[in-house]
Amino acid sequence: MRQGRRTIRLIMGLLIGGTLMSLSFLSAQNSPKNPYTGDAEAAKEGYAIFQKMGCPGCHGAGGGGGMGWSLIDCIWRFGWDDGTLFRLIKGQIPEQTMPRGFGDVLTDDQVWKIIAWVRTINHCEENVIGTPTAATTAPNPEAEAQEQEKACRLVAINQNMIRQTLQAFPDYASTYVILYRDDVTKPVQSLEDPALSKLRVGVNADTPVVDLLKKAGASNVVTYSLSEGPLGQVVTDVLDQKIDVAVVWAPLAGFFIWQSDTEHRLTAVPLATVLQAPTAFQASGDQALTYVQRCQQFLHGVLESYGVVPAQVLTAGSNSR
Ligand code: HEC
Repeated sequence: MRQGRRTIRLIMGLLIGGTLMSLSFLSAQNSPKNPYTGDAEAAKEGYAIFQKMGCPGCHGAGGGGGMGWSLIDCIWRFGWDDGTLFRLIKGQIPEQTMPRGFGDVLTDDQVWKIIAWVRTINHCEENVIGTPTAATTAPNPEAEAQEQEKACRLVAINQNMIRQTLQAFPDYASTYVILYRDDVTKPVQSLEDPALSKLRVGVNADTPVVDLLKKAGASNVVTYSLSEGPLGQVVTDVLDQKIDVAVVWAPLAGFFIWQSDTEHRLTAVPLATVLQAPTAFQASGDQALTYVQRCQQFLHGVLESYGVVPAQVLTAGSNSR
């Protein structure tokens, strides 16, 4: 009796859902399962393959999109189940616009590892099949990049707009970077680096790195307020040689690198630790305005051009989820 009612409901659901729904339902049911689901080592390898194959060119270093399709949002072109993603990367979906060539070079095993990594950066509870908004697909990448930079110039007019832009910053909210000038003889690659104890280190107050620096034994620390004074001072002081290095929240670093480091004298090394955003920048939940989103996309590109990978991507595998 119960069984029967469930079957009827299922059939009704299929009829009501229409072709698209039922197709995706069926494909989800029949699709093969990733043998590497939840396998941290495999996910790490998957990310290495993702980078090596040039996938970031369209999907961004952190999978956040940019010129291409975001892997961290909850909108999927053909579906999100293992089998669909596998066929897409293999180049087996007739309607796909993503290049098919990867199917010839990637083994099944490698494709599954990449998918295992995608699962570590995508935390959607509800997924939909659909097409992304204009903001995530650029018909003309160059014009779009110019629009994005224009949006950042608009934002730069006042500190409140900068704050609003950096709040709820996609992908990089948990990421901090070590910033130093190229003339620093001994580049600091991590907070564990003993060289740090001899350097003048700049840091913003009310960020988790203040404690980390203390633990690391840094003794010459200069603290910069995020509620008073110029927001980007910690970055400009590195350029002006007032401090040797700075450990800065990535969105803030991105914005002021773009504004100040016009000669590209700075190097940015992302910390491989997922940390809280500065208290002053924790997301307000406001839905961002178009120019704010545009500027965020631009800064995303700035960080990528400095090789800054989001912390959650660097640590995917070790302590994801
Ligand atoms: C030339 C640009 C381009 C490159 C390079 C590229 N992709 Fe894609 N990718 C797309 C597009 C466009 C889509 C959206 C689906 C479609 O229309 O084919 C997509 C979709 C995806 C999706 C599903 C996301 C969704 O929202 O449906 C995954 C996963 C994916 N790509 C993985 C990869 C991997 C792994 C690589 C490298 C081996 C890669 N892509 C390289 C353009 C690209």
